[in-house]
Amino acid sequence: MELQNKVALVTGGGTGIGRAASLELAKRGAIVIVNYSRSQSDAEETVQLINSEGGRAIAVQANVSCDEEVRAMTRTIVQHFDTVDLLVNNASITIHIPMDDLEAATEEVWDELFAVNVKGMFYCARAVAPFMRKNRKGAIVNLGSIAGQTGLGSSLPYAVSKAAVHGLTKSLARALAPDIRVNAIVPGAVATRWWSGREEQMNRLAPHLPLQRISTSEDIAAMICTALEQEAMTGQMITVDSGQTM
Ligand SMILES: NC(=O)c1ccc[n+]([C@@H]2O[C@H](COP(=O)([O-])OP(=O)(O)OC[C@H]3O[C@@H](n4cnc5c(N)ncnc54)[C@H](OP(=O)(O)O)[C@@H]3O)[C@@H](O)[C@H]2O)c1
Repeated sequence: MELQNKVALVTGGGTGIGRAASLELAKRGAIVIVNYSRSQSDAEETVQLINSEGGRAIAVQANVSCDEEVRAMTRTIVQHFDTVDLLVNNASITIHIPMDDLEAATEEVWDELFAVNVKGMFYCARAVAPFMRKNRKGAIVNLGSIAGQTGLGSSLPYAVSKAAVHGLTKSLARALAPDIRVNAIVPGAVATRWWSGREEQMNRLAPHLPLQRISTSEDIAAMICTALEQEAMTGQMITVDSGQTM
């Protein structure tokens, strides 16, 4: 699918992978809605970067874990641009807990991570699906993680939430076919603020990876756009991890 003039919503589009995806989508001619929940100045700066390069973008605040806010955001987008063609379900959070500390994985932690990482992605897909269906065309990319494949991550509930994202991707791909394609990009370590305070740990990993490099946000953004464009693919998990899990 050509991304030119398509209306693309990127959740958490102001920072890291979301910002890189917003910029790459704009470079490929899409109109970009940069969603944020707290990082307003990052979202506005992303919009600024796109508009200064001759692209079209707006920032819209919504907490993706709140269905009402997601539906209101979708209404705002449709008021401005008539439809939504593309969704990058990128927004996620984590809480760092040692994997073996089961008591620290409290009900609150589970609920918070699942509300944003899993239900948030579902709410966004559900809100935009009717507009994609009306046009008989649409594409969704969810951000998974190798934590969801290996079981190892910043915390046990985070790893399980990403495994759920992979499951959500397959179920949505079935539920929304044939009009809407749904795929997941599954990154390994990516150099973003996600690692802030633990940069050394991230850098120590690099020499042990087959490709001896940590992925950049731009690496992931390029694959996100490719998955959105590829008309013969749905329900797939595409791992981009410098060979970490091969
Ligand atoms: N970096 C890595 O090593 C890595 C590895 C595997 C997978 N990933 C995945 O990549 C994605 C992007 O992460 P990143 O590395 O780019 O880190 P990041 O810069 O912290 O991005 C997370 C984004 O999610 C947004 N967000 C969080 N809660 C939200 C909510 N309730 N509503 C709306 N937006 C919300 C944040 O915006 P606000 O600040 O405005 O809330 C932020 O823009 C995530 O899905 C993450 O799980 C990252």
